[in-house]
Amino acid sequence: MEYDPFSPAMAEDPYPTYGWLRDNAPLYHNAERGFYALTRYQDVLAAFLDAETFLTSHGTTLEGLEDGFDTLLTTDPPEHDWNRKILTRRFSAIRMQELEPRIREVTTMLLDDARDAGRIDLVAGFSARLPMVITAEILGLPVDQRDLVRDLCGRLMERDITDTPGVLPASAAQAAAELAQIFLALIAERRSRPADDLVSLLVHTPVVADDGTEYYLADHQLLGRVAELTVAGYETVMKLVSSGAVRLAEAPAARAELARDPSLIPNAVEEMLRMDPPAQFTGRWTSRDIEVHGTVIPADHRVLLLIGAACHDERTYSHPECLDIRRDVGRQLGFGYGIHLCLGAALARLEARVAFEELLSRYPTYQVDYNGIVRTYSSNQRGLKHLPLNLNPSVNSAVQ
Ligand code: HEM
Repeated sequence: MEYDPFSPAMAEDPYPTYGWLRDNAPLYHNAERGFYALTRYQDVLAAFLDAETFLTSHGTTLEGLEDGFDTLLTTDPPEHDWNRKILTRRFSAIRMQELEPRIREVTTMLLDDARDAGRIDLVAGFSARLPMVITAEILGLPVDQRDLVRDLCGRLMERDITDTPGVLPASAAQAAAELAQIFLALIAERRSRPADDLVSLLVHTPVVADDGTEYYLADHQLLGRVAELTVAGYETVMKLVSSGAVRLAEAPAARAELARDPSLIPNAVEEMLRMDPPAQFTGRWTSRDIEVHGTVIPADHRVLLLIGAACHDERTYSHPECLDIRRDVGRQLGFGYGIHLCLGAALARLEARVAFEELLSRYPTYQVDYNGIVRTYSSNQRGLKHLPLNLNPSVNSAVQ
């Protein structure tokens, strides 16, 4: 069987292919596209934990999405650790709690707006908007640029089935260039006039090396960080919330339980992330020969860690295809693991929790309009572009 991450079938339903790979080719090699792939939970976890062998500095996508952007993710140790330190405290679970009232306010406003219509496109009307507002406020992105930045992020990530697989399409390259212009202007502005935001923090905080030497990030490095935080902070949360909403609609008993007892929602979010991790895979580059399942992956080769496959590994999870809102997910791979563990995990968990608390308290019996679902074909991510919901099915059907 062939595994081609760019095939539309993979965006549609990759899980049967993942199952075949785990059983029959736990170390898969796709010579044509030039990558190895790991699919079993324990193998993916081990690779995440071995940052000396599995490097990120050669990029983590197959098509070079990050080329030209100096991101935290594509920085190897020791520089990675020095750079991450600037941001970790800012994104700690405790600091994120301070954002909860604002996240709830935006969530409430967006969901209440849909009440009269009784319908919402959960992506366009909610899950694409909440994380962009919050990320923009954290970064300090001016209000009048947020819609444009959201559209550009969408164009950067989106792929069309007619695109040449593995090549960054022209529309994405153009979006990257436009985002760069916006972010470089913001960086210049905050350099001369610092404000209480993350861009100012990045511009004005020195990176401290192990020997105590200090240096400031150059503009091209700052650009990479800001672009990374914007795209990472927006696309993934949007996809988690919309995929999760579909999973819950398909499990009405679990959904009713969550509506009755919202204290179960944080664990349900972990399970939704396991079921449909928005980042389906990430890439690494081998620094040395490494043997896996009796075969040597040579040094200087690309290896994909298939998060989506690992999260459905029956060797780790019983009945992995069933949503179990009480499941102990254990070490969650949906946010990666090891030194590059998602910086925004606490924020993402908070946004998703509040989103489901507010959605279920208002519209506990929403129905999915399956005819209107549109899936995105994006880089390494999987999720929905349109998700129409009928919010009050009993009322709406009585009216019709
Ligand atoms: C549901 C939402 C999210 C998911 C599923 C997700 C997923 C991931 C994954 C899988 C990684 C590790 C990639 C790798 O090791 O190759 C990662 C890293 C990262 N994420 Fe997230 N993410 C989410 C939300 C966020 C948010 C809200 C932010 C920031 C505001 C963010 C910022 C980052 C950054 C900066 C890294 C790189 C960290 C490093 O290299 O040290 N993410 N994320």
